[in-house]
Order: sequence, then C-alpha cells, then structure tokens
Amino acid sequence: MSHVTCHHVSERLTIPVAVPRTVEPDPLGRAIRDHHRGERTHPLVDRDGGATREHPIERFYFEPVADDPDIGWVESWLSGPLLEVGAGAGRHALYFQERLETVATDLSRHLVAVMDDRGVADARRADMFSLRAVFDDGRFRSVFARGTQACLADSPAELRRFLADLAAVTTRDGTAVLDGFDPGHERAPELFGHRPDPEADVARRCYHQTYEGAVGKTLSFRLVGPDRLRAAAEEAGWQVADVRRGDPRTPHYQAALAKSGIG
Ligand SMILES: C[S@@+](CC[C@H](N)C(=O)[O-])C[C@H]1O[C@@H](n2cnc3c(N)ncnc32)[C@H](O)[C@@H]1O
Repeated sequence: MSHVTCHHVSERLTIPVAVPRTVEPDPLGRAIRDHHRGERTHPLVDRDGGATREHPIERFYFEPVADDPDIGWVESWLSGPLLEVGAGAGRHALYFQERLETVATDLSRHLVAVMDDRGVADARRADMFSLRAVFDDGRFRSVFARGTQACLADSPAELRRFLADLAAVTTRDGTAVLDGFDPGHERAPELFGHRPDPEADVARRCYHQTYEGAVGKTLSFRLVGPDRLRAAAEEAGWQVADVRRGDPRTPHYQAALAKSGIG
C-alpha cells in the first residue's frame, strides 16, 4: 500500500491545544534556499504514493508580486503594521514593506535566512499556529497568508483556534487575508494529493516532498470553502467581508476577514 491516507474525524468536543510544529527536515526550505543561491541541482518533488510532480519553485516563490492581478484587491484589505505568516522566500513581504510596516514570519529557518538575504527588513522564525506565544495582543492591524498554509489547521477546532489567535494579535479594527482551495469547485479533485473527506463540504490534500535525500513529513491540508470558513470565522470574532476568486477555472480563492461588530 503506497498511498498515505490521512482522514481525520471532527474534534468538536476536544479542547484545542497548540502542538509545537516543525518543518524539519524541510525539503521545501532547502530547495528554495539552494534555488536562491543558484546552487540547486535537484528538483523538489511532491509525492503522493506513486504520483509525483516537480514543484515549480521559480514560478511559485520568486515571481514578482506586482504582476499578480489580485494584488490590488489584497492590498485594499491590508493596513500596517502587517504580519505575514508562512512568508516563504518573501515575495509579498518585499512588496508590502515598501508600503506598510511588515513583519514576515515562516517556520523554516532556511526561508527566514533567504528572506534576510533578499532584503526583507524584519523576517522572523515563528509558527503561525502559535502566534500568541510570540506576539502581544493587538500588535498588528492586519495579517496576510498566501499559499494555502492556513489549511494546515487540520480540524474544525484547530481552524477556530488559529482564527481566534489572529483576532487576538490584531487591533479591534483588524483585518486578515487568507487563501484556500474550495473543495466544492468542479476541478478540486484534480488538485495534487486530493482526498475526499467524510465531513460535509470538506476535502483533504495529502502529500509529502523530497529534495536531495531529505524526505519531508506528510502535509495534510483540510480544504474548506468560503461558507465553512465564514462559519469558523464568526465563531472566532471575524466576518468574511469579501471573497476573491481569481481564475474561475481553479478552486483557489482568497478571503478578506474583518472584525465582527465593525461598521
Ligand atoms: C506554499 S508556501 C507559500 C510561501 C509564500 N507565502 C508565497 O506565497 O510565496 C507555504 C509556506 O508556509 C510555511 N509554513 C508551513 N507551516 C508553517 C507554520 N506552521 N508556521 C509558519 N509557516 C509555515 C512554509 O515553510 C512555506 O514557506
């Protein structure tokens, strides 16, 4: 049996507790670091059992954000001080820091080093699922995550806790922009590593990555559409104020969150 299965049962009765996370041995971070240094000789490979694909590092992590047709919409929902979580090689941080006070965080020490090297002014190692251990309440006006890493909150309770932590580290008029894949989109089953899930209106993506002998741990993404995100957000003190679907042929969407009770 070569396929990794990763079905999880809803945890409605469980009190969520932050579990320390790690990306080690971090094939993604190592591959992006080597790519940045011009020293990458191996592909970064996404693997789901026998299925593989080469992860397009240049296209995903180094293309200028100014060319993104949705960047104006994203920017319209963000104010400084801005916290970026899962900032990767810093492409958005490099853009936003010219406009707003920006703190860029990632769990990968290799990627924090890449961001430093590329000129990100304030790059720090932090777990996006333990933000309250790192930042004071109300420290930021906005939070931004791009890359569907918010879907690593792999239960309803963990998503609620993540959103509640975002609410805590932002001001009363705070906003957030998050992204995800809508499991209800007709092309969602084509996503690499897609799995159906017994929970209604939920799907999974499960795969791992390998790079030059480093075998990453299995990534388990819990995919929810805007409606489920809206419900979770409301329980955590947010409203989904706007949803942006870029290319309608893909399940990708971004959601702008604003604090409940504003306006
Ligand atoms: C798909 S990449 C997106 C990178 C960047 N935002 C971009 O759009 O180019 C996902 C990022 O999330 C980071 N990440 C994964 N789990 C994390 C966690 N628990 N806390 C912070 N960052 C995390 C990964 O190291 C990686 O850089």
